[in-house]
Amino acid sequence: MITQARQYYIETLEKIRQDGLYKDERIICSPQASKIQVRFPKESPLKEVTNLCSNNYLGLSSHHEILKAAHEGLNQRGYGMSSVRFICGTQDIHLELEKKMSAFLGTEDSCLFSSCFDANGAIFEAFLGPEDGIFSDKLVHASLIDGMRLCKAQRHIFEHQNLHELEEKLKSASCRIKMIVTDGVFSMDGDMAKLDEICLLAEKYNTLVMVDDSHATGFIGKTGRGTHEHFGVMGKVDIIATTLGKALGGATGGCVSGRKEMIELLKQRGRPYLFSNALMPPVVYASLKVLDLLTHSTERRDKLENLTAFWRLALKEAGFDLKPGNTPIVPIMLYDAKLAQSFSYDLYEEGVFAIGFFYPVVPRGEARIRTQISADLEKPQLERVLQAFIKIGKKYKILN
Ligand SMILES: Cc1ncc(COP(=O)(O)O)c(C=O)c1O
Repeated sequence: MITQARQYYIETLEKIRQDGLYKDERIICSPQASKIQVRFPKESPLKEVTNLCSNNYLGLSSHHEILKAAHEGLNQRGYGMSSVRFICGTQDIHLELEKKMSAFLGTEDSCLFSSCFDANGAIFEAFLGPEDGIFSDKLVHASLIDGMRLCKAQRHIFEHQNLHELEEKLKSASCRIKMIVTDGVFSMDGDMAKLDEICLLAEKYNTLVMVDDSHATGFIGKTGRGTHEHFGVMGKVDIIATTLGKALGGATGGCVSGRKEMIELLKQRGRPYLFSNALMPPVVYASLKVLDLLTHSTERRDKLENLTAFWRLALKEAGFDLKPGNTPIVPIMLYDAKLAQSFSYDLYEEGVFAIGFFYPVVPRGEARIRTQISADLEKPQLERVLQAFIKIGKKYKILN
C-alpha cells in the first residue's frame, strides 16, 4: 500500500512539473527588505536582487524600532505562551494589542489569532448556521473559502465585483442572517472591493458585511486604516479580518475586529482561537510598536502611494498589460503559466525578484507576474527594475 501511495505522489508531482505549475522556492539568506541576498537554484552562490514581491508594504519587517520592540517583548515576557488564550495564554499585552487594533480600525472590539488564515477559519462557523446565508465574491482569498466551507450556511457566490448579481442574490435568498463576504483589496488582482456600494446594499437588505483587509490595513485610506477608510464607511463594516503578517511588521498573527458581541462570541466559539496557541510576546510587543508608528505618521503609506502611482504608470506606458487598480499590488498579465515562469527566471537573471503566479493560485489561463510595491523601495531602484521588465517584455514580444 505504501509503495502504491508513494508512486501516486511521485506521478502527481511529475504531472505538476509537466504542466509548468511546479513552484520552486528561492532561498533568501538576508532579512526581508527591498534588497535581498538569494540562492537560486539552491546550491548557487548568493546574488543580490531587488525584491518586488513581498507583503512588506510599509518596509517595517526589519525596521530597527520594530526589532527593538520585539527584543523587549522577548526579554520582558519570554519566547512562547505555551497555552491557548482561555487556559493560561492571555496576558495584559494581548488585551492592550486588541484595544489598539480596535482604535486603529475604528471598531468596537478585537480578537487576536495566530494567523489571519486561522481567523478566517474561525469566523463563519462561529457566526452562521444552516439557516443563514453567505454572499461572497468569487475571488476571495483561499482562507475565506476554506472558512466558509467549515460552516453550514448556504453559500451564494457572485462574479468578481458584480454588485448587480450580488443584489439579485440578496433579494431572492431567504435566510435568518445574511453576510456579505469580500476581500478589501484582492490579493491576486490588486483591485479594491466597492465597499461604499456594498454597505448600501447591506443596509437595504439588512445584511452583515465582512471584509478581509489583509492587503489594506496600514496603508489604504488617507491614514492607512484600510478599505473602509478609503470608501468612507468606517463603522459600517461589521467584521474586519486582517493580518499582522504583511504591512504591520510582517511576522505572524491575525486579528478579527468589529461589533463587540460578535467578538465576544468569537472568543467563545472560534475553534482556531480555542485550540491554538496565543500570540508570542515578541510579536505582540512589535505589533504595538507598529501601531504607534502608524498612528503618529502617515509618511510610509504616503511614500508607498507615490511609488505605486509611479510604477503603475511606468508599466502602462511601457506597454504592459496590467490588471486595473490603484493599490501596491500590480499584476502584469501573461496568461500562460510557462511564460510566467520564464519571465520570472529572466527577471532574476537581471537582478529582480518577482514570482510568476499561476493555477491553482490564480484561475487557469490567467498566469501573471504579481509585482508588489514597498515603502522600502526608492524611485531610482524602480527605474532600474523597469528597464529589466522592458528588456524581457521585448524578448517575449508582449508589449503593446
Ligand atoms: C486576503 C488574505 N487573507 C488572509 C491571508 C492569510 O494571512 P496570514 O498569513 O496571517 O495567515 C492572506 C495571506 O496571504 C491574504 O492575502
